Amino acid sequence: MKIIVYLATSANGMISNNRNVPDWLSPEYGQGFMAISQRTQAVIMGKTTYHILAPDYLPLKDSGSLVVLTHDKDTVPPQANVLFTDNSPEKIIAQLAAKGHTEAVIIGGRQVVSAFMEAGLVDEIILVVEPVLFGKGLSLVEEVEFEVPLSLVAVEKLNNHTVELHYAVKGK
Ligand SMILES: NC(=O)c1ccc[n+]([C@@H]2O[C@H](COP(=O)([O-])OP(=O)(O)OC[C@H]3O[C@@H](n4cnc5c(N)ncnc54)[C@H](OP(=O)(O)O)[C@@H]3O)[C@@H](O)[C@H]2O)c1
Repeated sequence: MKIIVYLATSANGMISNNRNVPDWLSPEYGQGFMAISQRTQAVIMGKTTYHILAPDYLPLKDSGSLVVLTHDKDTVPPQANVLFTDNSPEKIIAQLAAKGHTEAVIIGGRQVVSAFMEAGLVDEIILVVEPVLFGKGLSLVEEVEFEVPLSLVAVEKLNNHTVELHYAVKGK
């Protein structure tokens, strides 16, 4: 089971600004986000990110598996393909594999990315780097004690200002 993180970042590695307004994201990020969600048919996110996207901008409508990490397991999500869970990253991956998925994409936010990174379960990271610097905001991972060596798989210029950096986690 391949686990891929797909995120937009500022040029200094922030995934959100303090205004928390997504007006810095390129259309190419949105297109890539939809494309990788459609390809994997298995999307993992945190409850905060779910609240930002649902219902209109969820990347899978009726098909596939949308896994939302939350401690609020008692609320039943209105979308049939959404699962609210507080399972461990390992268990979530095992559940998706049991459903026949061979890859899954983590689309944010920071807490969920950090949990899977810390557990050593991420195979690839795709960063869509947008042309902006944020002095305040959310960094890609929380202040956790790890260093994760990466190898560069590909660099793609998505438009005149945006690049996509595709990394593999070394040793995976
Ligand atoms: N640039 C990008 O590509 C991108 C993508 C997505 C999001 N974002 C940004 O990221 C920010 C949101 O990130 P975030 O880190 O604040 O939130 P998040 O990871 O989206 O969600 C955090 C919530 O998920 C639940 N959660 C997290 N870990 C859990 C665990 N191990 N077990 C059970 N529940 C768990 C908790 O929900 P409960 O409180 O319900 O328990 C927690 O409050 C927003 O500003 C958003 O705009 C950026």
